[in-house]
Amino acid sequence: MASNLAVPQAGVTLSEPIPIFRPTFGEAELEAVQAVFASGWLGLGPRTAEFERRFADYIGTPHAVALNSATAALDLGLRVLDVRGGEVITTPMTFVSTNHAILYNGGEPVFADIEEDTLNIDPRSIEKNLTDRTRAIVVVHYGGHACDMDAIMELARSRNLPVLEDAAHGCGGSHRGRKLGSIGTLGSFSFHAVKNLATGDGGMLTFSNEEFDGRLRRLRWCGISKDTWDRSVVDRQYSWYYNVEELGFKCHMNDIVAAIGMVQLAKLDANNARRKAIAAYYDDRFADLDWLETPIEKTYADSAHHLYVVRLDRRDDLINHLRDRSVSAGVHYLPNHLFALYRGYRADVPVADRVWKRLVTLPLYPGMTDGDVERVVEGVRGFGT
Ligand SMILES: Cc1ncc(COP(=O)(O)O)c(C=O)c1O
Repeated sequence: MASNLAVPQAGVTLSEPIPIFRPTFGEAELEAVQAVFASGWLGLGPRTAEFERRFADYIGTPHAVALNSATAALDLGLRVLDVRGGEVITTPMTFVSTNHAILYNGGEPVFADIEEDTLNIDPRSIEKNLTDRTRAIVVVHYGGHACDMDAIMELARSRNLPVLEDAAHGCGGSHRGRKLGSIGTLGSFSFHAVKNLATGDGGMLTFSNEEFDGRLRRLRWCGISKDTWDRSVVDRQYSWYYNVEELGFKCHMNDIVAAIGMVQLAKLDANNARRKAIAAYYDDRFADLDWLETPIEKTYADSAHHLYVVRLDRRDDLINHLRDRSVSAGVHYLPNHLFALYRGYRADVPVADRVWKRLVTLPLYPGMTDGDVERVVEGVRGFGT
């Protein structure tokens, strides 16, 4: 048993429901928000800029641009990659935002199959789906576990194709020591309420290409060539002046969200360590169950452990059994090519078609008490008896 799970904590009653996800907040986040209000500047401003700097440093990229969601990050990311009229190879095993972003940009999603063990996009299937019309590859680090980035980046380089890493699950995770979101052409992050770094809503794009920086800053604020902070503080003489160079959107981050983000970033490694300890404890306590498969971690990956996904034949029965014991469980995901919107796009994905029917996501969040973890374990083990 992991040492910080050794002592069951008091205060948990059996009737208290255990959700699949729960954000972990404290006084520091509240104080940070109070300071923003006291400053009088709530919008896009100095805290957003500071959060971008700190996040870029943490991820290990020269640039980071803060947005109001990962959906916006994926959308703007594909906009600077310019996929209009072309094909984008992607995974079906994701939240729909990943693939909506391709459609927002006038691209055609082409679904590659996934690896049986990690549920990440399979580089062999990416290769099979490459055509003269391929414009980009989008990969999702499912559950926080790195995709096979060596093979993916080699393929991308050989065809001169950009790679967008959807690291919504992967904040703090790494591949051979490099942080997820720093390996491809662009990394996209979500700070949605249930993510490893949670601000309520928020997103970030990370990248090295300097040319993307100005364009993304314009695109996130209506195409305007200077943001409000620059106009009011940096360039006082012409504070009223701005230009509009292209049709942009309204999807930048604000300083309230950034203030919470900086506190959450400082806690991220500790929170992810707690996730890792809970996942290891689950692995250990489920090891003897021959009807349940636990997740694996490849040697190249240090997972951010966003999701803990097990597999079994009677998936729906386990979910109902746990619900009766006030333990939530879910399914991530219905493969996207099965949604009505995505029917008709290329999807030769036999593994995805088969494996999703056996997936169950169990509760995993840093604020789980040892008692909560034990209740999940007992709930699952009780299903088999
Ligand atoms: C893999 C993945 N990509 C993108 C998103 C979209 O994130 P957001 O809610 O910040 O727009 C999510 C959110 O659940 C996700 O899981």
